Amino acid sequence: MTKKRVLSGVQPTGNLHLGNYLGAIRNWVPLQDSHECVFMLADLHAITVPQNPADLLKNTRETAAAYIACGIDPKKSIIFPQSAVRAHAELAWILGCYTPLGWLKRMTQYKEKAGLSASSPERILKDLKDQKKIFTELTRQVHEGLDNIRLQADSKTITADITQGVLEINEEAAAFLESEIKISEKSKLGLFSYPVLMAADILGYHATHVPVGEDQKQHLELARDIAGAFNRACGEEFFPLPDPLIMPTAARIMSLKDGTKKMSKSDPSDLSRITLTDDADAIANKLRKAQTDTITGITYDPETRPAIANLLTIFAALTDSTPQKIADQYATAQNSQFKGDLAEAAVTHLSPITARMRTLLDDTETLDTILASGAHAARDLAQPILRETMKRVGFWQSA
Ligand code: TYM
Repeated sequence: MTKKRVLSGVQPTGNLHLGNYLGAIRNWVPLQDSHECVFMLADLHAITVPQNPADLLKNTRETAAAYIACGIDPKKSIIFPQSAVRAHAELAWILGCYTPLGWLKRMTQYKEKAGLSASSPERILKDLKDQKKIFTELTRQVHEGLDNIRLQADSKTITADITQGVLEINEEAAAFLESEIKISEKSKLGLFSYPVLMAADILGYHATHVPVGEDQKQHLELARDIAGAFNRACGEEFFPLPDPLIMPTAARIMSLKDGTKKMSKSDPSDLSRITLTDDADAIANKLRKAQTDTITGITYDPETRPAIANLLTIFAALTDSTPQKIADQYATAQNSQFKGDLAEAAVTHLSPITARMRTLLDDTETLDTILASGAHAARDLAQPILRETMKRVGFWQSA
C-alpha cells in the first residue's frame, strides 16, 4: 500500500444535515489528495431501524449526490453502496465471533437507539451488593444497641431509614430489570451488532484512517479492540488499528432547537436541523427560530450558553473562522442581526452544493454508473482481504 487508506460513510436515511456535512463529509474532501479514499453509503447500517424500501433507494442516490456535490470526486475516490459489496456482511459475521457481548452492551448509541435506561447493570449490581453491607451494619448496630441506651432510643429511626433505603434500591433495581427485559425482547439483533458491521467496513479495507464526527468515536475504539482481538487470535498484526480523524471544529453540531442535543437526522422536528436540500427561505426561517437565550450580547461560552455557542460554531465552520472571532465581531449585536448574517453565510456556502445535488439527481443513470464502478472497485479491494481473513480463520477455500 503506497498511500494510507481512508474509509468513511453516512447512513442513507434522508435529512442529511449540517452536522453530517461539517462534522464529516467536508473533512473528507482534502484527504482525497493525500490518501486512497473509500466512501460508502451505509445502507446495511440504515436498515437497523425500519426503512421504507422506496425511500432507502431514493436516499441512497441522494446521499451519493451529496458526496459528489460536496467535493468527493469519483475519479479520485471510490463511492459505493455498502450492500453492493458482500464482503462487509461476511466479515461482520467473522468479527462477531471475536467480539464479547460486554463490549457491545457498553455502546452508548445502542442504548440510546434501543431506548435502554441510562443506568448500567453494573451500577445496579453494586447497589444491590451494598445492600448486604447495609444489612450487616444494621444487625451489628441493633445488637450493640441492646446494651446502649442511646442507640435503643434511636434504633427505630435507624431501622426505618435503612429499610427505606433498601426499599428504594430494590424498587430501582426492579424497574431497571423490567425495562431492560421489555426492551431486549423486542430490540433487533442488527441494532445491537451494528458496531461489529462498522468494524468490518473499516477493517475489511485495511483502512488506516477514519474521518468521522465525535459521536462515532466509541464505535471506532471498538473497531480497534476487535482488530486487536482478531490479531491476537491469529498471532499476527493482520488488521491495522484504524485511527479516528475527528476535526476539532464542528465535531459535534447541536440541534437548533436544543443546544444540548446533537443535531440528528431522526429528530422529529425539522426545525432542529438545516439539511443539504433546504432552500434559502427554509435556512433563514430555521435560523430565525433557532434557540438562543435571554442574555444580552453574543459571547462564546459552550458551558453556560450552549445554543449561542452552537450557532457560533456553525458560523465559524462555514466561514473558516473561529467561534471566538465571530463572537468578538458580534459582541454587541442583536440576536436577529447575528442570525440574519449567519443565514446569509449558510446560504452562500450551501446553495451551490444544493444546486449541484439537484443536477446530479436529475441524471440517475450517470449516478448509478458511478455507484456501479465504485462497487466494482470496492470489491476488488475487499475481496482479497476477506480471503486472507478466512484463511487465518481456517476456512476451506477453492484454489
Ligand atoms: P451517520 O450517518 O449517523 O453520520 C454520518 C457522519 O456524520 C457525523 N455526524 C455529525 N458530526 C457532527 N455533528 C453532528 N451533529 C453529527 N451527526 C452526525 C457522524 O459522526 C458521521 O461521521 N455509523 C456511521 C456510518 C458508518 C461508518 C462506517 C462511518 C458505517 N460504517 C465506517 C465510518 C466508518 C453513522 O451512523 O454515521
